[in-house]
Amino acid sequence: MKLFRFLAYSLAFFIGAVFAFRGTNSFPGNPAKQYKPSYAVKTVNTVSDAKAAAPAMSNLAQQGKNLFIANCAACHNKNMKDKLIGPALGGVEARWSDYPKEDLYNWIRNSQAMVSAEHPRAVAVWEESDRLIMTSFASLSDEDIDAMLAYVNAVYQP
Ligand code: HEC
Repeated sequence: MKLFRFLAYSLAFFIGAVFAFRGTNSFPGNPAKQYKPSYAVKTVNTVSDAKAAAPAMSNLAQQGKNLFIANCAACHNKNMKDKLIGPALGGVEARWSDYPKEDLYNWIRNSQAMVSAEHPRAVAVWEESDRLIMTSFASLSDEDIDAMLAYVNAVYQP
């Protein structure tokens, strides 16, 4: 019985010592002794994990994504923040917010008509892009454009 007790105490002491040692291991001033967790750190490393982690895109944005890829992605970067041929579209609604929404719809349907009419934002963005001419998309409806803007906003992280 005594031997059993001795073993139990030694075991308790040993466990205590291990914990104390792990404590000193995490001392922040010593980078060589950085605390490394013994449990597995969960990382997103499969496609299904990544999909589960990403917020679901609304149906409208999903519809806009298809339209954007078909019509705009050749000139406007899909990451919405780097320039491609045309400027990045992230935050575009804010840049047109001094004007009625119609103006942005009209720009996308026929940008050069807006430049000729001397719309201030149209002239400014045209000058900034060295007067490159954006394709006209006369057949896009307001709903189509709303869907694409929803997609732009879903992708863009300011
Ligand atoms: C052939 C290349 C091209 C395509 C295709 C194109 N754009 Fe553009 N876009 C431009 C350029 C270049 C500009 C800069 C203004 C200019 O030079 O006319 C621009 C500017 C814009 C602007 C104004 C940005 C701002 O900051 O004010 C919007 C909005 C826009 N494009 C939306 C679209 C959408 C939506 C599509 C698809 C339906 C599209 N563009 C397709 C080239 C293109």
